[in-house]
Amino acid sequence: MGEPLLSVRGLVTTFRTESGVFRAVDDVSFDVGPGEVLGIVGESGSGKSVTALSILGLLPDPPGRIAAGSIRFDGRELVGLSKKDLRALRGPSIGMIFQEPMTSLNPVFRIGDQIIETIRAHEPVSKAQARQRAIGLLDRVGIAMAQRRLDDYPHQLSGGMRQRVMIAIALACAPRLLLADEPTTALDVTIQAQLLDLLRDIQRDTGMAVVIITHNMGVIAEFADRVLVMYAGRVAEQGGVDAVFTTPRHPYTRGLLGSTPSLERDEPRLPTIPGVLPQLTEVLPGCRFAPRCGLRTAACEQGRPPLADAGEGQQAACLHWQASAPELAR
Ligand SMILES: Nc1ncnc2c1ncn2[C@@H]1O[C@H](COP(=O)(O)OP(=O)(O)OP(=O)(O)O)[C@@H](O)[C@H]1O
Ligand code: SF4
Ligand SMILES: [Mg+2]
Repeated sequence: MGEPLLSVRGLVTTFRTESGVFRAVDDVSFDVGPGEVLGIVGESGSGKSVTALSILGLLPDPPGRIAAGSIRFDGRELVGLSKKDLRALRGPSIGMIFQEPMTSLNPVFRIGDQIIETIRAHEPVSKAQARQRAIGLLDRVGIAMAQRRLDDYPHQLSGGMRQRVMIAIALACAPRLLLADEPTTALDVTIQAQLLDLLRDIQRDTGMAVVIITHNMGVIAEFADRVLVMYAGRVAEQGGVDAVFTTPRHPYTRGLLGSTPSLERDEPRLPTIPGVLPQLTEVLPGCRFAPRCGLRTAACEQGRPPLADAGEGQQAACLHWQASAPELAR
């Protein structure tokens, strides 16, 4: 990979709660190259959305805060940028799609106006030009009779159509990076598959980089070049999709792969791995996966396992990454 487009280093994001300050994201590092698709996977509460919100400058602050680390986009440091500068980046540089479009679309404005406003907020074009672009975008995301649909309000559209509109808005300013947080999870399986195909086509046409967050290893297999597996706020494993799927090095990844590598079945929630995520407020000196791990030894509970280099860009935060016992984690 040449120069990364996005480079996250040592990111620590904390939340202040009644029971104290805890790390929702705990020393996470990864890169995304231009045109690359990175999938982030991990069960609920592992810190995927907080990582995305940290990158976008959209953390609810307070209680959230980037406590340490660096996020560079196209060579520019984003940590510490003003709200205004971050807003200027969202749209033209980094587009975003979230799980529930009803919370991102404004219910009182027509969808056409929302697309047009997004374009005009970042580019000096006339209303008529922006309107033409909006029609082209709706057409591109597969909305029939785009011209007429511009005048609809969000509630007049189905969930799948609303998510298509969100994709259109995210693409409106031709971002170089698209951050998609569970973009299809709320939809039924057939629509999910259609939207993922659409996103993949658009990614190939435009060459934009994508970070896609999902619970579903099937989505990663279909869509991503590389994968980042998160567990309890930390990186468990990362690497090329082929390498991680054929030789997973972290017992947690093995557990995920043993559960649902399928897009066809309607099982977006991952684990058949016994046990639950630790409370993030708990202090665990060692490996956070230890209570659920069949390969655990006394050493695992002594200190945080470093990311071991398994070659070819694959890394796993496991002391026993060389053990080949996939069935142990199932
Ligand atoms: N606004 C907030 N205030 C306090 N804690 C928060 C807040 N947002 C997230 N958290 C906590 O941060 C941790 C990581 O949450 P995050 O939303 O990133 O998980 P996730 O991996 O996206 O999960 P999911 O798959 O359910 O979307 C969780 O423990 C969550 O409860
Ligand atoms: S470090 Fe130990 S407890 Fe943690 S995943 Fe590896 S084997 Fe399991
Ligand atoms: Mg989330």
